[in-house]
Amino acid sequence: AEAALKDMFEADFRIGAAVNPRTIRSQEHLLARHFNSITAENEMKFVSVHPEEETYTFDEADQLVAFARKHGMAVRGHTLVWHNQTSDWLFKDSHDGTVSKAVLLERLRSHTQTVVGRYKNDIYAWDVVNEVIADEGESLLRPSKWLDIAGPDFIAKAFHFAHEADPKALLFYNDYNESNPLKRDKIYTLVKSLLEQGVPIHGIGLQAHWNLFDPSLDDIRAAIEKYASLGLQLQLTELDISVFRFEDKRTDLVKPEPGMLERQAEVYEAVFRLLKEYREVISAVTFWGAADDYTWLDDFPVRDRKNWPFLFDERHQPKPAFDRLAKLAGK
Ligand code: G3I
Repeated sequence: AEAALKDMFEADFRIGAAVNPRTIRSQEHLLARHFNSITAENEMKFVSVHPEEETYTFDEADQLVAFARKHGMAVRGHTLVWHNQTSDWLFKDSHDGTVSKAVLLERLRSHTQTVVGRYKNDIYAWDVVNEVIADEGESLLRPSKWLDIAGPDFIAKAFHFAHEADPKALLFYNDYNESNPLKRDKIYTLVKSLLEQGVPIHGIGLQAHWNLFDPSLDDIRAAIEKYASLGLQLQLTELDISVFRFEDKRTDLVKPEPGMLERQAEVYEAVFRLLKEYREVISAVTFWGAADDYTWLDDFPVRDRKNWPFLFDERHQPKPAFDRLAKLAGK
């Protein structure tokens, strides 16, 4: 049988996969064999665990943590503060008006205490704040209810609350388009200012939703260098390498075109060669899924289109990209 992915990179970084209650069943064998870390794809997000003020729903999150225990895997927590998949009640007062800043931050503290506290023996790292940087334009922060109500303070507060809830957990800022020079510099600016304020932050998550064309290796390298210069550890948190450009809306392919998977293998090899160069600062590489039978990309940005982004195919068999990585690792 083929070598295990997690063993290939054992001396370099953890190898993770995003999972959900369906994939821990349909992909159990593959996950257990090749990965030593998981992230909940949706099940630990605010709306999933805390749909109403007085109601926490941990069933699915607990199932994923139990799966990790069963297989001796690490768990990353995802995510505490986000503009998306966050319950509406959080931002409302009892008359359906907008809540005050003080109440919003107290709700965040209480949520964080409960969720991070619950998993303090299982989750070693949290994406505390997710995607608050604006993709385009001059402004640093993305418009959101968080920002409207609390101003930029909510970011530092979120890290303080998470640190209080579990002083041992590694706390990450996580974002996408992280290798785009403009956004990279904004992320750097935000995190640098958090560090200067003494905020407990330990790492930057590079989501790494990439494709065969973008970003360039030079931009990836420059992003790693810049973030690492802050003295923090880095993790790739949501890696996938689609065969389509983001702008490409074609829907005609029912299987990859000739050459696509070979090209993907070259890109994966080049990426992992680069990541290995930075093994001192990169502590984990998590894919946003495990095999091509299930990926969020098959519904985004085009509905019902296969993207074939992973190292394993729809039947969980190794793809050319996997073979290249095995060779790179000398296995
Ligand atoms: O749970 C409902 C279900 O009840 C309903 O019937 C169904 C109909 O559409 O929707 C289900 O919710 C979906 C949810 O995933 C759970 O499957 C949402 O529509 C769908 O939008 C949601 O997508 C998730 C997305 O985050 C939301 O922004 C993806 O699964 C998840 O992979 C994706 O993950 C994000 C990371 O958290 C942050 N970084 C980007 C990454 C990819 O977008």
